[in-house]
Amino acid sequence: MLVLENIKKQFEDGKYILDGISLEIKKGEIVSILGPSGSGKTTLLNLILGITELSSGKILYNDKDMSNLSLQERNFNIVFQDYALFPNLNAYENIVYGLKNKPDLCSKEEVDELVELLNLKDHLDKDISELSGGQKQRVALARTLVMKPEVLLLDEPFSALDGIIKESIKQRIRDIAAKYNLTTIIVTHDPEEALTISNKVLILNKGKIAQFGTPREIIESPEDEFVREFILRQLEVKKDNIYNLFDRQELERQAG
Ligand SMILES: Nc1ncnc2c1ncn2[C@@H]1O[C@H](COP(=O)(O)OP(=O)(O)O)[C@@H](O)[C@H]1O
Ligand SMILES: [Mg+2]
Repeated sequence: MLVLENIKKQFEDGKYILDGISLEIKKGEIVSILGPSGSGKTTLLNLILGITELSSGKILYNDKDMSNLSLQERNFNIVFQDYALFPNLNAYENIVYGLKNKPDLCSKEEVDELVELLNLKDHLDKDISELSGGQKQRVALARTLVMKPEVLLLDEPFSALDGIIKESIKQRIRDIAAKYNLTTIIVTHDPEEALTISNKVLILNKGKIAQFGTPREIIESPEDEFVREFILRQLEVKKDNIYNLFDRQELERQAG
């Protein structure tokens, strides 16, 4: 379980960008951090990852205080918004790059399994410049997953993708989270994305929690005016589709 305890972050100008964030994320859960631009989503992700220092508060993982541990010691891992792939290496070399210094971390079979899961088999020899947006995204995901992170962090993973590609990546992320029981935190500014991929959604408004709940709770009982107006208005037209998806997911769950 990942626990955030009263997290605060202020930068040099003294303004609180995050102001008292507390929540619990269970192992294997997919949680979206949702909010408008500038609400503090990326800052929160970077604090969890360990590349930004907390001003106050605690990050606990399985009861261990991670607040002052380095990125490596935390063993969380991120797919950045721009993927940050190495342009001088091909797709396969990118995927296994992190294993150079840790060859025992992930076996050849496990790498093959990820390549299979992410449908990358036909693209392994390609240069990064030859890949489509969706293929780059999958390479970036594979490269992160071979490192066996305890927690997978994704910053706006769908923002550069459209339509069918987006749906397919969402499904793959869900499959991977389920298969490896991998705690996954996804930053997005798009309510539809957040509500359709996650078990829980954290809605941020100016550095504070507006609501933390299941997609159904958020749609059916928005906690305040901000959630109602800002989040749900964007969704009005899409609500029926989202309910259909909930029903489908429920059926899939029951079918095992
Ligand atoms: N290193 C920094 N120094 C000062 N202000 C920052 C820094 N990083 C982010 N901010 C400010 O924090 C706020 C939230 O930024 P961010 O977390 O990137 O929001 P989001 O990802 O939700 O768009 C913004 O007002 C941004 O300008
Ligand atoms: Mg951001």
